[in-house]
Amino acid sequence: MTKIEKLKICDWTLVVVLIFEIASSFIMEFKHGRDLLGIPSRSWTAIHIALSLGMFALMVWHLYLHYGFSGWWSKICKLKIALSKWLFAISAFVLTSGLIVSVYWLMHYRSHVKKMVEIAHGKIGFLLLALCVWHIIRHFNWFCSKKN
Ligand code: HEM
Ligand code: HEM
Repeated sequence: MTKIEKLKICDWTLVVVLIFEIASSFIMEFKHGRDLLGIPSRSWTAIHIALSLGMFALMVWHLYLHYGFSGWWSKICKLKIALSKWLFAISAFVLTSGLIVSVYWLMHYRSHVKKMVEIAHGKIGFLLLALCVWHIIRHFNWFCSKKN
């Protein structure tokens, strides 16, 4: 399979997963520990974690297809478009904070610190989703091209 074909699969899958991620994030924001549509609150969180980790795995593949596996830092620094740099920084924050709240969640541990990290994670998470949508709009021609 050529690199272009892999990019095509990766980028279109990212669009589909992003749509589910947006839905999952709204559910997380508004469920407030309650069951929803007959599905227990903890199951919604498990779905959110699985979906988010899947999306991050796709992002790593996306970046690997662009940059290979080495010298990411210098390539990120050389990026001319500020939006792409922000995508990296905010993705790193959302992933790290998501992993931290997941540990609290797995331990059934509720605390003020967990709540604070969860709120920051959620709000910055929505910012990441908005930036991803903007990033897709910027590459709209790529999606419209007959080759893709
Ligand atoms: C979430 C859904 C995303 C979609 C659908 C998406 C889609 C695309 C598309 C269509 C391109 C140009 C075509 C190509 O692949 O060569 C591209 C380029 C790129 N993407 Fe993404 N992307 C997403 C998320 C991200 C994220 C989160 C990052 C960074 C952490 C990122 C970093 C880049 C970079 C560095 C480029 C090349 C430079 C540029 O044109 O900005 N992308 N992306
Ligand atoms: C684009 C990525 C992500 C977005 C937009 C997002 C969004 C959200 C939102 C809006 C909340 C609710 C926050 C609140 O109630 O104040 C939340 C909670 C949570 N997220 Fe994420 N998230 C993302 C990635 C992740 C990742 C990668 C993980 C784990 C590895 C994760 C794990 C969690 C956990 C464990 C909770 C708390 C659930 C609970 O205690 O019921 N998230 N997220």
